[in-house]
Amino acid sequence: MFRVKELDSMYLINCIPKRDDLVIRKASGIWVEDDSGRKYIDFFSGIAVNNVGHLHPKVVKAVKEQLDRYAHISMLYYSDVVVELAAKLAEVSPSRVKKSFFCNSGAEAVEGAIKFAKKYAVHKGRSGSITISLWGSFHGRTALALSITGQKKYKARLGNFASYPGVVHVIPPYYYRFGRGMSEKDFGVWAADHIADIIDHYEAGDVATVIVEPILGEGGIIVPPDTYLPRLRKITEERNIPLIVDEVQTGLGRTGKFFACEHWGVEPDIMTLAKALGGGLPIGAIMVSDEISQAMEPGDHFSTFGGNPISCSAAIAVLEIIREEKLVENSLLVGDYLLNGLKEIEEEQEKIGEVRGKGLMIGIEFVEDKYSKKPNVKIAQQVKDEMLKNGYILGVGGIYKNVLRIQPPLTINKEDAERFIQTLSKVIKSIRD
Ligand SMILES: Cc1ncc(COP(=O)(O)O)c(C=O)c1O
Repeated sequence: MFRVKELDSMYLINCIPKRDDLVIRKASGIWVEDDSGRKYIDFFSGIAVNNVGHLHPKVVKAVKEQLDRYAHISMLYYSDVVVELAAKLAEVSPSRVKKSFFCNSGAEAVEGAIKFAKKYAVHKGRSGSITISLWGSFHGRTALALSITGQKKYKARLGNFASYPGVVHVIPPYYYRFGRGMSEKDFGVWAADHIADIIDHYEAGDVATVIVEPILGEGGIIVPPDTYLPRLRKITEERNIPLIVDEVQTGLGRTGKFFACEHWGVEPDIMTLAKALGGGLPIGAIMVSDEISQAMEPGDHFSTFGGNPISCSAAIAVLEIIREEKLVENSLLVGDYLLNGLKEIEEEQEKIGEVRGKGLMIGIEFVEDKYSKKPNVKIAQQVKDEMLKNGYILGVGGIYKNVLRIQPPLTINKEDAERFIQTLSKVIKSIRD
C-alpha cells in the first residue's frame, strides 16, 4: 500500500490543521470511500464545497469538454466561458451586484473586495482607512483576510502578519453568547447600532467598508437575529459605506436561499463567493454594484489564474445543477427537517447549548451545562470522532472549537437526514465525559 501518511509527514509542511484519520480513495455524490474500501456519508462537503455532491456528472462533463478546448490563456484575452459565468451569476445574484471579477479562492475574493471598497472610498474623496469586521468572523488566511478575521486562534504567533492597519473588530450578532438579557430582536438592533456609533463617533479614520458573513460559518454557524442585517444595511446605506457580504460559505444554496443575505432581503454593494461555486474546482468571485464598478480603472486588479476556463466551466455547470435539481428548495426543506430533529435532541441533552442554522448549514454548540454555557470542546470532538466510526464525516468549528458543523451536500434527502439524526442521537447518548 502506498505510504500516504508516512510521506505526508515527511514532505508536507506541518501547518495543516489536525487531520481525520482517513486516506481518501474516491468520492461520488454524498459518498466518500477510504483506502480500505470503507464508505462514509459526507456531512461536511469538503468544508461546505460540494453543494452539488462529489463529482456531479454534469460538472465532470463540463470540465472534460473545456479541457478538449483550452485550459488556460489568462484574462488578457476574451473568453466565452468567463462571460457566460458572469452573466449567469448576474441572473441569480441579489439585484444590486451584477458585475464580477474571478479569482481562485475565498481569501483572494475577500482581499479583492476590500481593495475595491477602498478604491471606491478614495474615488469619493475619502481616505477609506478603516475596515470594520466582526469578532468571531473568518475570512481566510492571507494577510488582509486574516487581519479582518476576528479570531485570535488563527492570528497569534505570526508577528505582525495579521495586523493590517485600520482594521476594527466589533461585537458579532451572536445572541447565545453576547445577548446579555436583551430580547433577540433588541440585541440585533443594538449590535447594528454599535457599528453606527463606531462609524460616527469612535473611529479616528474614515470607514471604507463593513464586512460581514451573513451567517458566521467557521466561527460556529452563528445566525444573526432577524433585526441585525436589515438594520446594518440601513446604517451603511445612509452613510454611503459599501457593505461587503462574504457569501464564500453561505452562498450557492447552502442556507436554503441562493444567497444567505436574501433571508433578510439585504442587498450588498459587494459580495464574495468561492467554495461551492466551482463544484470542487478552485474559483472565487467578487461581485459588485454598478456604482462600485465605476470607481475601477483598467489594471486595478488582476490574477494570472483568475477566470480559469476549467473552473469557470465547472461553475456554469454548478449553477445549472442547482436550478435544475432544485437544490435551494431541497436545502430549505431537508434543512428544516434536520434542524427540527436536532432541536429535539437539544432539549433532552444537558451538554447541548444550542442547535442553530438555516438550510443545510447547521451547528450544534456543546457546553458543560446549559446554565454555565461553558464551551465543551471535548464532547464536540468526541461526537465528531464517534460519528466518523459510525460512517459520517463532520466538521468541528466555532470560536471555542465546540461547535459540530453539519454541512452536507444539498442533494441529501429526508431519509438521509433521518438516519443522520438517529445515529447522532445514539452517539451523543453513548458519550459520558
Ligand atoms: C466566510 C469565509 N470567507 C472566506 C473564507 C476563505 O476561503 P478560502 O479558504 O477559499 O481562502 C472562508 C473559508 O472557510 C469562509 O468561510
